[in-house]
Amino acid sequence: MSDITDHVTSNRSAWDSWADWYAKPGASNWARPDPVWGIWAVAEDRLGVLPPDLAGLDTIELGCGTGYVSAWLARRGARPVGLDNSAAQLATARELQGHHDLRFPLIHGNAEKVPLGDAIFDLAISEYGASIWCDPYAWIPEAARLLRPGGRLIFLVNSPQLMLSTPDEDGKPATEQLLRPYFGMHRFEWPDDESVEFHLGHGDMIRLLRRCGFDVEDLIEVQPPEGATTQWPLATIDWARKWPTEEVWKARKVR
Ligand SMILES: C[S@@+](CC[C@H](N)C(=O)[O-])C[C@H]1O[C@@H](n2cnc3c(N)ncnc32)[C@H](O)[C@@H]1O
Repeated sequence: MSDITDHVTSNRSAWDSWADWYAKPGASNWARPDPVWGIWAVAEDRLGVLPPDLAGLDTIELGCGTGYVSAWLARRGARPVGLDNSAAQLATARELQGHHDLRFPLIHGNAEKVPLGDAIFDLAISEYGASIWCDPYAWIPEAARLLRPGGRLIFLVNSPQLMLSTPDEDGKPATEQLLRPYFGMHRFEWPDDESVEFHLGHGDMIRLLRRCGFDVEDLIEVQPPEGATTQWPLATIDWARKWPTEEVWKARKVR
């Protein structure tokens, strides 16, 4: 029997078909010397997503896409591995590795069932990768398995506020109304495409992280800086100044 669940198969074909479009944003992020995060491109200096010292750390990016987050980690001294479910996204990542002469292992696979051993990484990271495209009840235990004791898990996702206020129609920004229930939020399927996303409420996420042996160290609710713009029509700037569009979870494996 195949281990690949229905959402992994449908997300694989969705991302293979979107990969060409993501090549350009991927290339521009590879070219940035310093990390920026999320749809408002908030600078690392301001947001403080990464540990201050990455030198010598073994890292895995779960849902690495075009691989720019791992490239930023490599330039700060880490030894990254990128894993992604889409061969087409990984083809872009390989091309950009060649262009920047910066190579690290890329694995074609599913972040819910990673073909690597236990306790071999110091940091697992995901920016809009496994963090929203995988079932948290599968990928977070998998991240815990891959991390050494004391290892860190860092991931960026859309906020619950955004997920409750986003209309069903593709390309429409978040409204000021609550359009769906908070309780029970987990799997999201949009009428206009075949892909599947996952988003949990805060209580469910904290309980899941703790059950997997993590302590939550921070939850950064992202605010756009002065003058911020975005090419992603998830919310207007006025909306994003009132409510978080995105959040960064930082956890450490302690048990
Ligand atoms: C928005 S991209 C994020 C990656 C990266 N930050 C970027 O923008 O290039 C989402 C990525 O998650 C990957 N993905 C979706 N489901 C996955 C799964 N089950 N396992 C690993 N990667 C997955 C997709 O193939 C896609 O490349």
